[in-house]
Amino acid sequence: MDLRQYVTTVENWPKEGISFKDITTIMDNGPAFKYAADQIVEFAKEVGAEIIVGPEARGFIIGCPVAYALEIGFAPVRKEGKLPREVVRVEYGLEYGQDVLTMHKDAIKPGQKALIVDDLLATGGTVDATIQLIEKLGGVVAGCAFIIELKDLNGREKVGNYPIKTLIEY
Ligand code: PRP
Repeated sequence: MDLRQYVTTVENWPKEGISFKDITTIMDNGPAFKYAADQIVEFAKEVGAEIIVGPEARGFIIGCPVAYALEIGFAPVRKEGKLPREVVRVEYGLEYGQDVLTMHKDAIKPGQKALIVDDLLATGGTVDATIQLIEKLGGVVAGCAFIIELKDLNGREKVGNYPIKTLIEY
């Protein structure tokens, strides 16, 4: 399946000059959404993922069906002030801004192999912070998977040597 045909490009959103890749038109198409999740499920099996880690909010949407299919857990990465119990925190740079990401201190068990799943790899700030959160918790980053990679922003450099899978490149 050519997933690219289900992505909608929205010019000048959320700011002038940004060409936004909208994946809601993958999600609202059953076969396309299933195909995207299935591709990531296969990668998760290859890297031996034991838990899926997804950054809010769109990382939840694609990460959860992957975890469900594999019958493994899902650990959310949330912006500061959203998780109710003790957290680890990392500051990070966004494509447009600065923020803090957090995970519950007991979300990952020491040595557990975590696959990061998100909709988009842009500058790599989010995945870099998520890698740091997993490693602060003693987890092992098994790899990172994204529906879309914006190649010009060089986010892949932030992922370094961890296994990476992207379904569509721009
Ligand atoms: C978007 C996207 C990724 C991240 C990618 O999320 O869903 O998580 O940006 O950008 P990066 O590689 O430059 O870090 P956003 O921070 O907009 O949060 P949202 O999904 O909650 O809107």
